[in-house]
Amino acid sequence: MKLLVEESLVTKTEILAAATVLKPIVRHTPLEYDPYLSKKYRCEVYLKREDLQHVRSFKLRGAYYAIQQLAPEIRKKGVVCASAGNHAQGVAYTCRMLNVQATIFMPTTTPQQKVSQVAFFGGEQAEIRLIGDTFDASAEAAKRYAQAQEKAFVDPFNDRGIIAGQGTIAVEIVADLEKEQKTVDYVFAAIGGGGLISGISAYMKAVRPTTKIIGVEPLGAPSMKKALAANKVVTLDVMDKFVDGAAVKTVGSFNLAHVKQNVSELVLVPEGQVCSTILELYSKQAIVAEPAGALSVAALANCDIELKGKTVVCIVSGGNNDSNRMQEIEERSLIFEGLKHYFVINFPQRPGALKEFVTTILGPNDDITKFEYTKKGNKGSAPAIIGVLLKYKRDYAALLERIQQFDPHYIDLSQNQMLYTLLV
Ligand SMILES: Cc1ncc(COP(=O)(O)O)c(C=O)c1O
Repeated sequence: MKLLVEESLVTKTEILAAATVLKPIVRHTPLEYDPYLSKKYRCEVYLKREDLQHVRSFKLRGAYYAIQQLAPEIRKKGVVCASAGNHAQGVAYTCRMLNVQATIFMPTTTPQQKVSQVAFFGGEQAEIRLIGDTFDASAEAAKRYAQAQEKAFVDPFNDRGIIAGQGTIAVEIVADLEKEQKTVDYVFAAIGGGGLISGISAYMKAVRPTTKIIGVEPLGAPSMKKALAANKVVTLDVMDKFVDGAAVKTVGSFNLAHVKQNVSELVLVPEGQVCSTILELYSKQAIVAEPAGALSVAALANCDIELKGKTVVCIVSGGNNDSNRMQEIEERSLIFEGLKHYFVINFPQRPGALKEFVTTILGPNDDITKFEYTKKGNKGSAPAIIGVLLKYKRDYAALLERIQQFDPHYIDLSQNQMLYTLLV
């Protein structure tokens, strides 16, 4: 699995070879016309449902193909991987099928749902190690371990076999659209380290050169965008880990080469927009998408591309959403939509102050969702943390004016991420 810097990009022939190997292994996932999104964006939107793949993400494709390609004597020693969760599931599933021992490194921040699925798919075949706060830290530990143990490291993205495996998604898309005698104008796909977009774009460029491939990254982890701008792989200093599958500090160099050659545009999507999209996919289409899985659809609301009248495919790349995260997803969505707000407001220390706030400061459709206050003995006033849920975003400006009159020194917590995280 060693990568040569000057390697030529993955070819259509390699991807078709991977498709032959994977045919009996992976599910040919549905490519579904989505009436709701099509109406919303006045175009024809198809969703490639990799959330319905075995292991609930596309990652099985690359993992199986890459491990299957290893020489038997290397496989016998066992393999090592590092993953934010989905690649680990693909590796675990593969290793159980092929009877290969796997040592799987994941960040300590990996959602519990993913950790337990890896254990379930890998069974006796998988040993899980939770190391490092981020995928990148975990990957470093895994690579050191693989080297020391002389085991193969199954890279999650920066690898020919992985890219060829992920590219088989595009083989299915092209075949399915052909049956409907359609050609696709845009394919939207999430980027983490870049394996998915490398495979998809390599195949599409070869067989449908007019189709434009759009890569989508979370706003808080724009590692491919930064790499493109610098014309080399760069490492992000800070990163928002919320979109766990796509929050990667350093993309692969081989992946960057594919993106430079084959990808038309990159779109950055705010994490709050991803949350709103997850909720919308669930409520309108009954699709359970994880944050990285919803990125491609979220990008439709967030790009400058003229979509009207076009045929668009969004790859819903994964559905491993931890139900424990739903509360956070709802919260981030409401904040993004401008409906939920948090303030620190000074309250006079006298009876009736809260009643006055509720009756004169809040509007008729505003609701208090949080109130934290401790009466402090002999002081004239004391700060309270207040959460307010608006029914309509348009009511916000008037609310701020009334709060300003109540306490000119109030703090709007949404303007201060650190205070917000500390207090809410
Ligand atoms: C659901 C999901 N979508 C997209 C990605 C990004 O894939 P890649 O790292 O190949 O760019 C990942 C990566 O873990 C993922 O789990």
